[in-house]
Amino acid sequence: MSFDMIVRGGTLPDRTKADIAIRGDRIAAVEPDIEAEAGQVVDASGCLVSPPFVDPHFHMDATLSYGIPRINKSGTLLEGIGLWGELKPLLTHEAVKERALAYCDWAVSMGLLAIRSHVDTCDDRHLAVEALLEVKKEVASYIDLQLVAFPQDGFYRSPTARENTIRALDMGVEVVGGIPHFERTMEDGRRSVTELCEIAAERGLRVDMHCDETDDPMSRHVEQLAYETQRLGLQGRVNGSHLTSMHSMDNYYVSKLLPLMAEAQVSAVPNPLINIVIQGRHDTYPKRRGMTRVPEMLAHGIRVGFGQDCVLDPWYPLGTADMLDVAFMGLHVAQMTSPADMKRCFDMVTVENAAIMGLDDYGLSAGKKASLLVLDAADPVEAIRLRAQRLCVIASGKIVSERPAAHARLRLPGRPDLVSRRHEH
Ligand code: FE2
Repeated sequence: MSFDMIVRGGTLPDRTKADIAIRGDRIAAVEPDIEAEAGQVVDASGCLVSPPFVDPHFHMDATLSYGIPRINKSGTLLEGIGLWGELKPLLTHEAVKERALAYCDWAVSMGLLAIRSHVDTCDDRHLAVEALLEVKKEVASYIDLQLVAFPQDGFYRSPTARENTIRALDMGVEVVGGIPHFERTMEDGRRSVTELCEIAAERGLRVDMHCDETDDPMSRHVEQLAYETQRLGLQGRVNGSHLTSMHSMDNYYVSKLLPLMAEAQVSAVPNPLINIVIQGRHDTYPKRRGMTRVPEMLAHGIRVGFGQDCVLDPWYPLGTADMLDVAFMGLHVAQMTSPADMKRCFDMVTVENAAIMGLDDYGLSAGKKASLLVLDAADPVEAIRLRAQRLCVIASGKIVSERPAAHARLRLPGRPDLVSRRHEH
């Protein structure tokens, strides 16, 4: 028997050791000590072999635009939205595409091979929608790019958002988005959740809404989202992004809300890097962290992932497409420091995010798409601690990125020269 590639001697995220044999673009076998020939052998001994990173919340039409036409001085969500509004008329098809493709290159080098990106549908020119649909096609052999029709300026608040959002879905955008907390009134927000979920149900699509991205504890649109999910039979297909108001909600109300979300199988995607810098901006001290209640949702059996949201755009001045940065920040803000919780944070930026996006072809088992990573770490927790180097990135059976292990060569007085790698303990 022979294979196209064997990744030998790696440790899987569950700490078992196995070789991974690949034929064409599929995983053919995951077993210890596979005895067979292969066209290509990747030595993963001592390394973690994991499925690729997945980002379930991003804005690829805005990425890498930091400073155009100016920076966000207050750091608030609302100034970011205003600034994006200034930038929108300046966008060109070519510039959006070029920045998105540059970001996809960064993503590949970081082992990030599936991205759900919102695309702003409040532009009568449909420029970003067209550009990102082209990008989706161009990167399809190495990145699963899923697009969400996102009426950034409000489904009702922006006069043409409704027709433009529906048009984007007609053009091939595959997930229905929304922003109920940005509509003019709570009632408009509630109605927008209802109508957008109805549109998704009619078309057989998934829903992923920016929901309650505010510090206002009375922003309770997630309740309506769970209700409509139940009413329309969308269980397991609806995600609430951000849900930051839950941080500030009354505990009694949350004790009713979380079982409703669990019953409706509504998942949640906080975006720790963004939530920690954008929320609490109107506070003095104590200053709220603003991230939603991650351990509490997990305890209720709600599926939770972590998203990146922004890299170098009107809302966030940093970022490198590294989902280990996202897991690292999420772990800290949610205080998930037990060994089991830290491992869970790694799962959240891999398998849990993949489940939220509905990626059926994802995972390290025979028959699945042969996309995987060799990481310079012994296990998932070490990968988060080190934001481990992605030594080898394999997409659909092909090596698409390689980089050497990071190390420091120490030259200390009175000591022999030595190479320090991984900071093992
Ligand atoms: Fe977002």
